[in-house]
Amino acid sequence: MGKNIVLIGFMGTGKSSIGIRLAQKLKMEFVDMDREIESVIGMSIAEIFKRYGELRFRSEELLIARKMGMREDTVIATGGGTVLVDGNITALRENGILICLDAIPADIFNRVNRKKGTRPLLKKNVSVEDIERLLQEREGFYACADIRVNTSAKNMDTVINDILQALNQMELAENSCLRVNL
Ligand code: S3P
Repeated sequence: MGKNIVLIGFMGTGKSSIGIRLAQKLKMEFVDMDREIESVIGMSIAEIFKRYGELRFRSEELLIARKMGMREDTVIATGGGTVLVDGNITALRENGILICLDAIPADIFNRVNRKKGTRPLLKKNVSVEDIERLLQEREGFYACADIRVNTSAKNMDTVINDILQALNQMELAENSCLRVNL
């Protein structure tokens, strides 16, 4: 059974856009957890937060994460806060390699500003400093990744190549461990 590739990382690091391209390249399926939640509830993420609050969103997220753990050969884009809940990580690790996409705060700031109003946890006039602070608060959670890839100052093809290279290295390392153990 083929492992899933799970993209984690802060808002605006490119999890969805890179995930779609990566899945095409590897001929794997692609699932975006936020889009799954939206289709289950029938509302946008912003509407879910506004109507029912973050707690409801997180409980839907946990259900979807558990479903994702049962998939195979799928590239999964998580939400920026999926890693905050232990149960999500456990479920996604079930059959997945966790790759964290990183970006510098200024890049995140520019990217999230292009899609204003879609991210309920960021206030309208969010600053680079706000993003820096949130990133620091969450760093310990993103550190659970098997692989980390920096996306700043790179085009999409370079990021995809970096991911593929890191996956190859991981596979090589796992195989050599196997040989040593045998
Ligand atoms: C969130 C990130 C969002 C979305 C929700 C909460 C977070 O996803 O899941 O608004 O807690 O960081 P993106 O990372 O795709 O923006």
